[in-house]
Amino acid sequence: MSANFLEAVKQRRTYYGLGKEQIVPADRIVEIVKEAVLHTPSAFNSQSSRAVVLFGEESDNLWDITKETLQAIVPADQFADTEARLRGFASGYATVLFFEDQEVIESLQRQFPTYADRFPVWANHSSAILQFIVWTALEQEGLGASLQHYNPLIDERVAKTWNLPEQWRLIAQMPVGKPVQAPGEKSFLPLEGRVRVFRPERAFQAG
Ligand SMILES: Cc1cc2nc3c(=O)[nH]c(=O)nc-3n(C[C@H](O)[C@H](O)[C@H](O)COP(=O)(O)O)c2cc1C
Repeated sequence: MSANFLEAVKQRRTYYGLGKEQIVPADRIVEIVKEAVLHTPSAFNSQSSRAVVLFGEESDNLWDITKETLQAIVPADQFADTEARLRGFASGYATVLFFEDQEVIESLQRQFPTYADRFPVWANHSSAILQFIVWTALEQEGLGASLQHYNPLIDERVAKTWNLPEQWRLIAQMPVGKPVQAPGEKSFLPLEGRVRVFRPERAFQAG
């Protein structure tokens, strides 16, 4: 029963080579993000995750903002590499931005002071689950995506450009497009030692 899900998990990869040809309609991408936001689990069912989906020139603008921000701080002789990476992200046709609403987190901290230091951590966990669901679902549609982190450098300009609530904290940026280049080789550490199993012999024998 879980085979299809695990197959999707295996197929999700990081795609850096993206194209602008719209192989999946924008509405479908929005639908995926909405479904994922709705069904992602969160601590105390707090539902603190927020998402912004940028298409076309709006997406390009995000990467222009990132380029301008980095240009101001990266040494000029190292900027060519950075610029090339950013050009890759801008070569897709959408970008999904993931946020966590600090107001929700702070309200939980006030309500449950015992867990005050845990709520920001759990919010990050929940965001990671959301990112993974979106990433994997987009891949199942035949799209390519990757996960980027130019926050907090770009936070202010992002909030201003798209008029977002100031309590939304940017967590990650996911450029999306038609895959035009296969993902890189990926190596796997052996599972031995990474997963430990303890079970009483008789009760859990196969068959
Ligand atoms: C929490 C997390 C943060 C990541 N941050 C970045 C990042 O900032 N830039 C990037 O290019 N890839 C980033 N990645 C992608 C990883 O490098 C990639 O998932 C890993 O190398 C395995 O490759 P795969 O995604 O093709 O399976 C991140 C992945 C995770 C899970």
